[in-house]
Amino acid sequence: MEKIIYNGKLSERAKIKVDIEDRGYQFGDGVYEVIRVYNGHLFTGDEHLQRLMESAESIGMKLPYSIIEIKTQLNELIRVNQLSSGIIYLQVTRGVSQRNHLFPSADTVPVFIAYTREMQRPTAAMEKGVSAISVEDIRWLRCDIKSLNLLPNLLAKQKASEAGCFEAIQHRNGVVTEGSSSNVSIVVDGIIKTHPATNLILNGITRKVMLEICRQNNIEIKEETFTIEELLQADEVFLTGTTTEIMPIIEIDKSKIGNGTPGTITKQLQRYFKEKVAECCSVPTKAQ
Ligand code: PDD
Repeated sequence: MEKIIYNGKLSERAKIKVDIEDRGYQFGDGVYEVIRVYNGHLFTGDEHLQRLMESAESIGMKLPYSIIEIKTQLNELIRVNQLSSGIIYLQVTRGVSQRNHLFPSADTVPVFIAYTREMQRPTAAMEKGVSAISVEDIRWLRCDIKSLNLLPNLLAKQKASEAGCFEAIQHRNGVVTEGSSSNVSIVVDGIIKTHPATNLILNGITRKVMLEICRQNNIEIKEETFTIEELLQADEVFLTGTTTEIMPIIEIDKSKIGNGTPGTITKQLQRYFKEKVAECCSVPTKAQ
């Protein structure tokens, strides 16, 4: 029987129902995280939970549990569901309260859920590369908060899919921000450029791992904005994200990037990323 975490307790998934007055359901009033699980281990779990806490604080919410408590719950969930390769989705909403734009009273309990899903690494796409379209970024000005409000992201991703593409790369007045569910970087003359971690992008954990890899291996990286023209003319373009890992983009708006195959630096980053995963997660957990 598949288990989920519901307000701090392991519960049977089939028995939990969403209240129609949950503020997450009515307003998207909450925050979330997606954490990768490799070989039964949380990958960069602390970083994701730290960001969850920051997202919650940014919307005036306090997490109902400490990071250590959440981590213990998540590890228990991985164990009981016997998850080896997959993700954990977790979200916290401002709780159940009669619909009102104002925050509910201080004693309203946040609703915290987490579930697991099996998912393999997207190895075939990572080897071959994927295509993208560019779209206008129509989101709000706090994209650094991992909020449940994802409607503009969904519209962008759907548009990409309808164009036969994997991702939509968003821009504000011609300046590239990020993908609909990933961060974007370019490589020009051996130097990586990626949007600085401002309010206009989500400060991706995979992006952070990539920055660390670059520092450790003397790969030059600049946290600077770049335009759509620079994107289309770059030698290499790649995405970073929890489920996408390091994903080469070989075509944007039907125009080839570089020679239309995954670039050297992107492939190098993929190798280093795999090493990081191995460092963290190569020993199977006892339950596997
Ligand atoms: N998305 N930018 C946006 C808008 C995202 O939604 C995500 C992640 C990222 C990459 O962040 P990270 O490396 O921490 O996963 C960037 C998750 C996976 C999702 O919504 O499913």
